[in-house]
Amino acid sequence: MTSTTNDTTAGPGRPSRTAVVTGASSGIGEATARRLAAEGFHVFCAARRTDRVQALADEIGGTAVTCDVTDAASVAGLAEAVGPRLDVLVNNAGGAFGSSPVAEADADEWRRMFDVNVVGLMQVTRALLPALLAADDGAGIICNVGSTAGRIAYEGGAGYTAAKHGTQVVTETLRLELWDQPVRVCEVAPGMVRTDEFALVRFDGDAEKAAKVYAGVAEPLVADDVADAIAWMVTRPRHVNVDELVIRPRAQAAQHKVHRVTSSD
Ligand SMILES: NC(=O)c1ccc[n+]([C@@H]2O[C@H](COP(=O)([O-])OP(=O)(O)OC[C@H]3O[C@@H](n4cnc5c(N)ncnc54)[C@H](OP(=O)(O)O)[C@@H]3O)[C@@H](O)[C@H]2O)c1
Repeated sequence: MTSTTNDTTAGPGRPSRTAVVTGASSGIGEATARRLAAEGFHVFCAARRTDRVQALADEIGGTAVTCDVTDAASVAGLAEAVGPRLDVLVNNAGGAFGSSPVAEADADEWRRMFDVNVVGLMQVTRALLPALLAADDGAGIICNVGSTAGRIAYEGGAGYTAAKHGTQVVTETLRLELWDQPVRVCEVAPGMVRTDEFALVRFDGDAEKAAKVYAGVAEPLVADDVADAIAWMVTRPRHVNVDELVIRPRAQAAQHKVHRVTSSD
């Protein structure tokens, strides 16, 4: 783990509120880090690609932390970089790998999905919980980035949907376990979001397959839409817990019911 900061010292000009965003090197995480910085947070931008989180931290006046959420030692380094107090944790690192039916599933892909979407989220939460409990005025908050894939099933999606159902259940469990503690636990569950890398990663760099996910959808959600929702959730008064927020593009009435405009329409 390495971390570099643009402003580590307390004093005039130092924002009083801090946030950690995992998976801040692209997509929803990057947009969320930018948005929280604009809201006045000092943001710790965490992901594996150092060059990307460093460029982002330089731009928004935050702190870059190279961190693999699936690696306990790396996560311990993140907690060390953050220090004794933290206001907001956005557990966003995650993703889908592959789309095989169960009968042809690749066990390694399933393990990787469970590792990043569930175990990684748990490790980061466990490491940063003491700092969140020490947040000013008992206003600490955890926002987990789940998915509508954590609410339903779809063919070819079992590895990812199982992992994102895991994200949802861990969120619910944590809220129960921390019911008497000064910290909130919530989940945003986006539907279709057109980000640069999510579908590319899922289909192992196959741009044609990735493009089909969004084909004909004039206005899918973009990363800024989800960042906007997260920023709203984490800036509510400290007695307000938005348990879960499902957000989809207008064109997606349900997972299987997507309005696509094709050339034959
Ligand atoms: N796009 C969608 O349609 C959609 C819909 C619902 C939910 N989501 C969820 O939203 C989150 C962000 O997705 P996105 O669309 O923004 O995809 P993305 O651009 O592929 O972002 C994934 C992020 O996670 C990071 N990451 C992956 N493995 C990691 C690890 N082991 N340790 C630390 N960071 C790791 C990646 O950074 P590095 O590679 O640099 O580590 C990257 O910054 C994910 O949890 C995803 O499941 C996405």
